[in-house]
Order: sequence, then C-alpha cells, then structure tokens
Amino acid sequence: MLEAPHSIAETTLPRHVAIIMDGNGRWAKARHLPRAAGHREGAEAVRRTVTASRELGIEFLTIYAFSSENWKRPDEEVSDLMGLLRVYLQREIKELDKQGIRLRIIGDKTQLSADICKLIDDGERKTTDNSDMVLTIAINYGGQAELAMAMRCIAEGVKEGKINPDDIDEEFISKHLYTRDIPDPDLVIRTSGEQRLSNFLLWQAAYSELMFVDDYWPDFDKQKLVSALNAFAERDRRFGARKE
Ligand code: FPP
Repeated sequence: MLEAPHSIAETTLPRHVAIIMDGNGRWAKARHLPRAAGHREGAEAVRRTVTASRELGIEFLTIYAFSSENWKRPDEEVSDLMGLLRVYLQREIKELDKQGIRLRIIGDKTQLSADICKLIDDGERKTTDNSDMVLTIAINYGGQAELAMAMRCIAEGVKEGKINPDDIDEEFISKHLYTRDIPDPDLVIRTSGEQRLSNFLLWQAAYSELMFVDDYWPDFDKQKLVSALNAFAERDRRFGARKE
C-alpha cells in the first residue's frame, strides 16, 4: 500500500535521486500520437516530478534529458527535444527560483545552440543561491565521454607537472567530473521497464540502488515517486561490506 508522502522516514529518504526518463515514444505510440506528443507529456512529468521531489525533501534530483547518443535520432525529433528544453528553460526558471531550487546542467555544452547556452547560464546564475533542492539536468551527457574528459584533464595536469600520478584516487577522479559538487546518487530510477543505465552517471552510480519501474515516463507522478522511495527504504545498502 502507498504510504502518505510525509511518512517516509527522513533517515531512509535518498539524498540524491537520479532518473532515466524513458518511454515517451511508446506512451505516444500506444495512443496513436506522434512521438513529439510523448516528449511534450514527458516535459509535464518533469515539472510534476521536480515539484514533488522538493516537497518530499529530496536534496538532489538529476534527470537525463538528452544523451550524447540522442543526436543519432531523426533531425525532427532532435529539434523537438531541443525545442522542449528551450521552452522549459524559458518558462520554468522563475518557478524553480520561487520553489528555492538551484538549477545545474551537466554535459557537453559546446554542441548546444547559443540561445540554449545563454538560457542555461542565466538560469544557473539566477538560481545559484537557492538551497531547497538542486535540480541537475543532463543535456548532451554521456558517462563515458565525461570520464574521457576527466582523464584528458588529469593527463594534461600530469604532463605539465601539476598533478602527481600517486594522487589520483577515486575522490580525485570524482572531483574532475561534471558532478564534482554533488553527492553520488543513492537511487537511480528508470521508467518504461527497460533495465540498463544507457551511459548515465556510470562512475557516480557505482553504489546506487537501481529501480526499474514499468510506467512510461509521461505517466510518472508524485504517487509513483513515493512508491519508489518506499521501495528504496526497504533496500539493504552495504556498499560492499559484509552483512552482520
Ligand atoms: C526517452 O523516451 C526520453 C528521452 C529521449 C528524452 C527525455 C525528454 C523529456 C522528458 C522531455 C524534455 C525534457 C525536459 C527537461 C523539459 P524515448 O523517446 O526513448 O521513448 P521510447 O523508448 O518509448 O521510444
């Protein structure tokens, strides 16, 4: 049975929830609608989930909006997705700010259009002092590309004599990722029944609890988030240690 949101004990609430929002296309197909309609409803689910996460007391929410592999989709779909991101950034910054939410974008911004980059910069700047929740949107993000970027940066440092190879440990690598200032996700949720990470937060998800829910992303809402949080509360996290 679904528990009331306020009854999730604070001690079992994940600090950081990351979501792979999958199933927009299948949601649309099931309704004989164009894929764009599924993405539009997906953007609505983003709005709902951001507000719900903050209300539930989640400190960090990270969502996978556009992967570095999504450029391989037909031009029209890429353009629809970029259009939705543009509209989201144009319309929602004010609301995020009102809700005390800080916006962060991770991913390679060099391939994004200049106007989207400006919206990102403005949104990050406007919300920088907010502390009720950090919303991180992954755009043109790929976990392997992120690790390659970090390794290039570290290798440069070694070449220039600024980094001693002996200092390169897990924490050092973490500090060279886009997510350097946010904790690793406690819970990664993927919607639509698919069970894979698809290049999302590969390093950061090393000890995350993975949860695969059957609903398509446009159907995701606060109640489904609460169900996932309740299931998370039942998980036994050991981080590689032996069970007592
Ligand atoms: C997967 O559905 C979803 C995406 C590729 C992108 C997610 C984008 C949104 C939710 C909308 C815009 C985002 C924001 C932040 C406003 P799919 O197309 O792969 O679905 P399918 O597997 O059923 O075809």
